[in-house]
Amino acid sequence: MKALILAGGKGTRLRPITHTFAKQLVPIANKPILFYGLEAVAQAGITEVGMIVGDTREEIRAAVGDGARWGLRVTYIPQEAPLGLAHAVKIAKDFLSNDQFVVYLGDNLIKDGITPFIKGFIQRRPNAQILLAKVPHPERFGVAELVEGRVVHLDEKPLHPKSELALVGVYLFDSTVFEILGDLKPSWRGELEITDAIQGLIDRGYEVRHYVISGWWKDTGRLEDLLEANRLVLETLTTSNAGQVAPDVRLEGKVIIDGFEGFTESRDRSSVNVLRSKNPQ
Ligand code: G1P
Repeated sequence: MKALILAGGKGTRLRPITHTFAKQLVPIANKPILFYGLEAVAQAGITEVGMIVGDTREEIRAAVGDGARWGLRVTYIPQEAPLGLAHAVKIAKDFLSNDQFVVYLGDNLIKDGITPFIKGFIQRRPNAQILLAKVPHPERFGVAELVEGRVVHLDEKPLHPKSELALVGVYLFDSTVFEILGDLKPSWRGELEITDAIQGLIDRGYEVRHYVISGWWKDTGRLEDLLEANRLVLETLTTSNAGQVAPDVRLEGKVIIDGFEGFTESRDRSSVNVLRSKNPQ
């Protein structure tokens, strides 16, 4: 199985940060968002990754390289303009060949990774598999309508969502999807929508399975989502102290102190993270 990671977007909704920074490399808890996706893919046992890149391709190449750091082999696939998620899949056809593949949106974070989701797909071999998450504002996403436990309809950013179930930015396909991609028309936002491609599979009677995830999921498309994602990731950290803490110092909350030789005290004694490594990250 191969992975296609979509890192072509401009991040206009994240301005001003993205005036100077590729949105896919904005750090969440000190790590570029995109790296969480690469880790999730590697954890799932996938090694072949196609990376869709756009205007920020140079920065992304410089940060990700050949992927060897994660045990991955990354092939860069340039998308000449942000023409939609389904367009990105379409241009990766040669790379994906006839394999099953996972499409991972580079700005998505999923607490529990994608391993179980991929295992289920490999075992059951449907034509596509989607991940859904219950969200308070489904109108900001693709939304699924279920009837008797089956997905019957998907709508991209509907004004009146038929459910609270948003499409998470991780999709699994076999090569059947290319039949649909050839006929797909641009949506109202001028893009070839992956949501419409999956609807096409449903309409033609192909099997589309779904999972509803229970752990958190974040699409970091907006500034407030970035802050929330940062908070959620920090919550998953386990407090550890491999250093030395002065006797009059109190550590509060989730604090990680790496082991290092010697330490310097912060000037601000009232702050929480009062110790600074000599080699801060
Ligand atoms: C895209 C998809 C949408 C999905 C979302 C998940 O939205 O079109 O269906 O719910 O990713 O992150 P976009 O980020 O292009 O607005």
